[in-house]
Amino acid sequence: MSDPNVPPQPGDAPEFETRDPALPSFWDERFERGFTPWDQAGVQREFEAFAAAHADAAVLIPGCGNAWEARWLAERGRTVRAIDFAPAAVANARAALGQYSGVVEQADFYTYTPPFASGWVFERAFLCALPKKLRASYAQRMAELLQPGALLAGYFFIGETPKGPPFAIARDELDALLTPFFTLVDDQPVVDSLPVFAGRERWLVWRRNDAAPSRA
Ligand SMILES: C[S@@+](CC[C@H](N)C(=O)[O-])C[C@H]1O[C@@H](n2cnc3c(N)ncnc32)[C@H](O)[C@@H]1O
Repeated sequence: MSDPNVPPQPGDAPEFETRDPALPSFWDERFERGFTPWDQAGVQREFEAFAAAHADAAVLIPGCGNAWEARWLAERGRTVRAIDFAPAAVANARAALGQYSGVVEQADFYTYTPPFASGWVFERAFLCALPKKLRASYAQRMAELLQPGALLAGYFFIGETPKGPPFAIARDELDALLTPFFTLVDDQPVVDSLPVFAGRERWLVWRRNDAAPSRA
């Protein structure tokens, strides 16, 4: 609770009813109240360059929020599905996508199966939105969703945060999480980060390893 004797300061987050980011209601409340400091209101340059270089691949975007990237892809005729488990996020995204609204589905990342084999999955402000207890299952599910050779590409929030979301992840922890399934193939700094991520965002591309050989 905030101190009732201290007036709100610039940059203070509003008070919210919901506290558990594992639940859709947590995100609904923030979308409905217009508190979305993670929202880029457009696509970032690394995404654009990567998407241009992988024009033929189908793309899955989990935890899409307002789905700017899905809109960019759909407008260019790409095969894309964007999912979010929060009804308010899906409503926002569908309204913004207009004639392309069908690419957005209300679904949970942990149970959704896309209608195609994804050439890549796009990550942005999704892993850092999850409670830490869900990180291992994030890596497992990403590995299930991507065939050997397919890519997990996007923006990762690196470092330490006392609380969240967003929950930054230490670089060695991220590597330990993903290297059982993926090999890192690109790693770049990000120049156009929003204030909430500034200086701690990396563009990373991970290639799905071949399935572990089955035991004789
Ligand atoms: C911080 S927002 C980021 C939204 C978007 N990726 C962006 O960059 O603007 C995190 C989003 O992930 C969604 N989300 C969290 N857990 C999810 C899950 N298990 N399945 C689907 N969406 C989920 C939330 O509803 C929220 O819209």
